[in-house]
Amino acid sequence: REKKRKEGVNLLEMSASFFRERLKMPEGQGAREYLERRGLSLEVQRTFGIGYAPGQWDALKQHLGGQGVAEGLQVEYGLLVQHEDSGRTYDRFRDRVVFPIRDIRGRTLGFGGRVLGDAKPKYLNSPETPVFHKGRELYGLYEARQANHRLERLLIVEGYMDVVALAQFGIVNAVATLGTATTEDHLQRLFRLVGEVVFCFDGDKAGRQAAARALETVLPQMIDGRQARFLFLPEGEDPDTLVRKEGAKAFEDRITCASPLSEFLFDQAAQGRDLARVEDRERYASQVLAAIERLPQGVLKSLMLTELSRRTGVDESRFEALMASHQRQPE
Ligand code: CTP
Ligand code: MN
Ligand code: MN
Ligand code: MN
Ligand code: MN
Repeated sequence: REKKRKEGVNLLEMSASFFRERLKMPEGQGAREYLERRGLSLEVQRTFGIGYAPGQWDALKQHLGGQGVAEGLQVEYGLLVQHEDSGRTYDRFRDRVVFPIRDIRGRTLGFGGRVLGDAKPKYLNSPETPVFHKGRELYGLYEARQANHRLERLLIVEGYMDVVALAQFGIVNAVATLGTATTEDHLQRLFRLVGEVVFCFDGDKAGRQAAARALETVLPQMIDGRQARFLFLPEGEDPDTLVRKEGAKAFEDRITCASPLSEFLFDQAAQGRDLARVEDRERYASQVLAAIERLPQGVLKSLMLTELSRRTGVDESRFEALMASHQRQPE
């Protein structure tokens, strides 16, 4: 099994260099123009190992086959798709800009591929394979570690282009979850490396929902000494569009001003409520209390409770009694 895994990793590396080579060749012209239109410098393309998957059905298959790689292995590692009925195989990534997804040591585990135009799906990712697990990997983590002698905080963004664009502007500590929600596993990995994470999702409905879910996921991980903050972008912007519009300095200022978890939590619970009304205040307090209950024991938890009490005028001991009764009798 170890041997096979090694073969797989080797195969992924061969594929990554194949895609990089093709980007430089005449057939890569459309992709090169696309990347130029998106404003990606050659240097940042090199740093992230960006490549191009040719349009044919079997460009990579032919290449790898020629090097003696078994077809079954290419299927297993997500490079070929096998048609269910006929059993025929063909390249998964065709006519797409390809982003290698690397592990923390720089080994390629999978790929994300973007169409050059407006076709759907916009992005195609490697499927689950023996080495690639979507809810675990973070795009850009290897590159962020390479670029920083000492990492203090990491920015969590949605997309490949966000990571790469920010890096080009000198903000070299962004990582992306690959079109999935931020998982517990992601956060555990990040907090092993840094004390602070800043969530920075797109300024759209999906992005705001992602932030609300990220808040839920991060709560149990907030042991004292860790920090989580939330950066909300103007409507219609993502980190890529915004950093190009405003420049690095303005974007960094936004990072500096990002809301701490406590602020986001209270703001979110207050949204759409009229806190002059008792009933609304009850909903508000219940929502915040439910979040506080999910925090691990510690100073942050105590302080949040004190703050909730201050904001609602309800004695802290009442909330403590409520929490204790929830613990005896989980809802
Ligand atoms: N995504 C995906 N599959 C899709 C659409 C999105 O896997 N069909 C993932 C990709 O990782 C993408 C991220 O979700 O980078 C965020 O999606 P979106 O904001 O729509 O794309 P952008 O990253 O902004 O892509 P671009 O700027 O290239 O349009
Ligand atoms: Mn595994
Ligand atoms: Mn979006
Ligand atoms: Mn974008
Ligand atoms: Mn986006």
